[in-house]
Amino acid sequence: MKSNPWIYALLAATALAGCHHQQPAAAALQAKAAGSALVVSSGDRQTGVIGSQLPQPLVLQVNDSQGNAVTGAKVAISGPAGVVFDSTQVLTDDNGLATFKVQLGGSSGRYELTATSQDAQGKPFTLSVVELAVGYPQEVGREVNDKYCSRCHNPDSSAEQVSNYDNLAVKPHAFTSGDVYNKFSDVDLTNIITHGGPSLNRSALMPPYGNTLSKSEIKAVISYIRLVSDPPYVAPGVAYDKR
Ligand code: HEC
Repeated sequence: MKSNPWIYALLAATALAGCHHQQPAAAALQAKAAGSALVVSSGDRQTGVIGSQLPQPLVLQVNDSQGNAVTGAKVAISGPAGVVFDSTQVLTDDNGLATFKVQLGGSSGRYELTATSQDAQGKPFTLSVVELAVGYPQEVGREVNDKYCSRCHNPDSSAEQVSNYDNLAVKPHAFTSGDVYNKFSDVDLTNIITHGGPSLNRSALMPPYGNTLSKSEIKAVISYIRLVSDPPYVAPGVAYDKR
């Protein structure tokens, strides 16, 4: 690996000349190896409550050009304002994994995190992952989903729940299916959730929840559906800058 001692001298000088009130910069981590690609091992696309730590750490792997895991590669991570990491740079472990604990910021929505590493020529390569932060109504909605909806609407079984999806003669859609869900108005969603499938000329396999859920719980589950939608939901008549 090429390294230019002048760069380090310059960096050190800049750091020393820096404002004395600032925190001293964390000792720069030295990469012991270099890879050529970053891939997600686990922990992307999680949902957490605003301001809290995500339930699972984000685990990324550095691979070389043959796809073998690289130990000792440096991975730096960054995210939008408000996101806090347990450390912003780590070296990959014996399995080529870099693990970050992620605390979400204070506003709900999508958080795009960017991890960066460098190849043997010092050229950076990056990987972006998305995490979701839910505020209060969306958090209630997520709980309603976990308790009542996901057993049919989520085709995947988990340790906590066996999916009923495969048993259904008519298949519901996952709440993340923006191409389907974005076409429903809030009124339509309220109707089908309150009165069941037949209210929108659909199958009675979609049960009515008007007697089980309060109006605000139904609103909450709709706001959760809007949040997880991919592509993202854009409320009619509301124009906003996505950035
Ligand atoms: C017992 C299984 C079951 C449960 C539980 C269930 N649904 Fe459904 N749902 C269905 C089925 C089946 C359909 C498809 C109906 C059709 O297309 O005719 C459906 C359709 C829907 C639709 C229309 C869009 C689509 O996916 O086709 C919405 C909205 C919906 N469900 C919301 C909910 C909400 C919110 C909950 C939890 C409060 C819930 N469902 C719980 C079975 C279920």
